[in-house]
Amino acid sequence: MTGSTPTARELLGIAVEVAREAADTAARMRAEGVSVAATKSTATDVVTAADRAVERQVVAALRAARPGDVVYGEEYGGAEAGADGVRWIVDPIDGTVNYLYGLPYCAVSLAAEVDGRVVAGVVRNVATGEEWTATAGGGAWRDGQRLRCSTETELGQALVATGFGYDAGRRRHQARVVAELIGDVRDIRRMGAAALDLCLAAEGRLDAYYEKGLAAWDLAAGGLVAEEAGLRVTGLNGRPAGPDLVIAAPPALFAPLHTRLAALDASGGP
Ligand code: IPD
Repeated sequence: MTGSTPTARELLGIAVEVAREAADTAARMRAEGVSVAATKSTATDVVTAADRAVERQVVAALRAARPGDVVYGEEYGGAEAGADGVRWIVDPIDGTVNYLYGLPYCAVSLAAEVDGRVVAGVVRNVATGEEWTATAGGGAWRDGQRLRCSTETELGQALVATGFGYDAGRRRHQARVVAELIGDVRDIRRMGAAALDLCLAAEGRLDAYYEKGLAAWDLAAGGLVAEEAGLRVTGLNGRPAGPDLVIAAPPALFAPLHTRLAALDASGGP
């Protein structure tokens, strides 16, 4: 790699290689047995030894491949703000609670930003090996298939995924929102890994997804996959998707879902 800005495809190539090795490590450590190493924001916001080992492995691999880049990760932090040049955003295991319980819905998520904009991302399911990739302007893909989001047009027919934070007050507010929304949609799914929810929406296995409280590492790679598959991925009232709210919906569903979520104060609460 030269000192010039790499292309999104070059960054994706690195990301895929690093994410595959990381997912192998996570799967091996899961097979050997998992326990909680520490807790973070609350007693149920857990970190396993694998979260830490996988992030260390990803950071080391990225440093070897691209020594000048900065990295921002869930477990060890790093460059919080977008930087000039390349910044990698890593969630070593998205869906840590599923991982802890042996539920096959957890993923390594790795994205590359150039000058503050996500240009490449990969999400790899640790348990199943399913892998989603995207580059900005280059489409979203799984197993050689280009992905297109749902063509559903009626909110009442939409299968909508969401998630809950770890803080009890936040969860109660999120539950009140979902208790109303569930009457307006086909059904709700809460599967436990935001990056995978966004990827399933990218291929129409979910119609839409929303959640308050996502961190950059939950959103970066899956958000690009979703956008490149045709979903609108934003916050409320034209704000960018972020911790206040992420709405990912096909164009025809976006307005009705946005209207309901705004009315239900989905970005409110603690
Ligand atoms: C969590 C998962 C979950 C979502 C939470 C995230 P983690 O990430 O993506 O689905 O609802 O908001 O924090 O803690 O498993 O990496």
